[in-house]
Amino acid sequence: MRLTPGPGRDIDLDRVDLFDLDLYTSGDPHPIWDAMRDRAPLHHQVLPDGREFWSVTRYEDVCRVLGDHREFTSERGTTPTHVGVDDPAAGKLLTSTDPPRHTEVRRPLGAKLTARAVKSWEDSIRGTIQRFLEPALDGERFDLAERALLLPAMVTGPLLGIPAKDWEELVQLTAMVTAPSDPHFMVGNEAATLAISHHELVNYVTEWVKRRRAAGGEDDTLLAHLMSVRAGGVPLTDEEIALDGYSILVGANVTTPHTVSGLVHTLIERPEQFEKAQADPSLIPNLAEEGLRWTSPACNFMRYAVDDVHIAGGTIPARAAVVAWIGSANRDAAQFPDPHTFDLTRSGAKRHVAFGFGPHFCIGAPLARLTLRVFLEELTQRFGSLELAGEPQHLRSYFIAGMTHLPIVAQKRRTP
Ligand code: HEM
Repeated sequence: MRLTPGPGRDIDLDRVDLFDLDLYTSGDPHPIWDAMRDRAPLHHQVLPDGREFWSVTRYEDVCRVLGDHREFTSERGTTPTHVGVDDPAAGKLLTSTDPPRHTEVRRPLGAKLTARAVKSWEDSIRGTIQRFLEPALDGERFDLAERALLLPAMVTGPLLGIPAKDWEELVQLTAMVTAPSDPHFMVGNEAATLAISHHELVNYVTEWVKRRRAAGGEDDTLLAHLMSVRAGGVPLTDEEIALDGYSILVGANVTTPHTVSGLVHTLIERPEQFEKAQADPSLIPNLAEEGLRWTSPACNFMRYAVDDVHIAGGTIPARAAVVAWIGSANRDAAQFPDPHTFDLTRSGAKRHVAFGFGPHFCIGAPLARLTLRVFLEELTQRFGSLELAGEPQHLRSYFIAGMTHLPIVAQKRRTP
């Protein structure tokens, strides 16, 4: 998805199609979201097949929809690719449950993923990132976006307990789940791509759990930890473990690479920002936060209204689907002055909602933040300059904002 908006234009909000995939590959959704925040902060759309959804685009409304499970439930599904179709994993999957059950499953898992817990992985993550960047150091063409798709698997694979031989296949499957219409990932049609990838991923974790049970003994990986989680005093069933393992795999794989490639593209377009970060490494944590705000790889998440809800000057009827546009909330001028300017020194960048808001706030945020910080430290220390070596290609998805290709050429940084 284009991250720097083009020139403003007249927009007829009654005719806007927010699920038009071209908008996210060759188009420009930002002027549309700007107009929605301004003129229609509650927007209604009917899809050609009759399914309907409401949209909120302002920061405070996005926080309310994502954060208040009494008004907006997650139990009927949360990804817009399933709008209007009840989630078969409702009430079982961490992402598709509401408190109190959600809290019971999330708490023990979250304890393994706190900033303090993930800090102990920093050295191994740095080694992984150095190996990842190594081929770009020789000045040859390097497709950062394509390669970055494998980065989370390289980082989280060992922590999850997934062998390296499986990473490539799992990356392909998680991309199919979240961008089923992208030609790189589509198999047949969108529905078939979704069904196949969901089935294969759940199957993978189920087989993993079976093998783990058969092997017995201790294991400190995240997937093994899921097997010891209890909800309501009873252990999770194998199906629930498989579905939660699936959420972690998808959550980890499909987001971080797009912040990595979006940020590098942004720094290539703004060399003065790259130079500032090189000159003052203490700016890097804030560069990561501004990069998350700017790229917002999870472009939106969905909820269903429990009862009629009055919000953003209108009413969402009971049981209707509502999409909270995170990418728009992160460009809301009421929260981020001059929102379409990328500024690594921006104060308050960390208030972004790229990781969501409320009870479902991304459980992997500490790991993603650590990965991004280490990536940016290595990038700024090792590379003197970065240039585009071809046209970037954007992911064909209205759910995940990202790139499939970003060819670059980099030069090594000379030691001062
Ligand atoms: C830049 C990187 C990332 C971004 C932008 C991101 C974004 C998000 C967002 C917006 C949500 C909220 C979903 C909702 O409200 O329904 C979420 C939840 C989640 N994320 Fe992430 N994520 C990232 C990295 C990760 C990583 C590395 C992992 C795994 C270690 C992960 C696993 C999850 C899981 C399991 C949930 C569900 C939490 C719950 O329902 O309580 N994510 N993520």
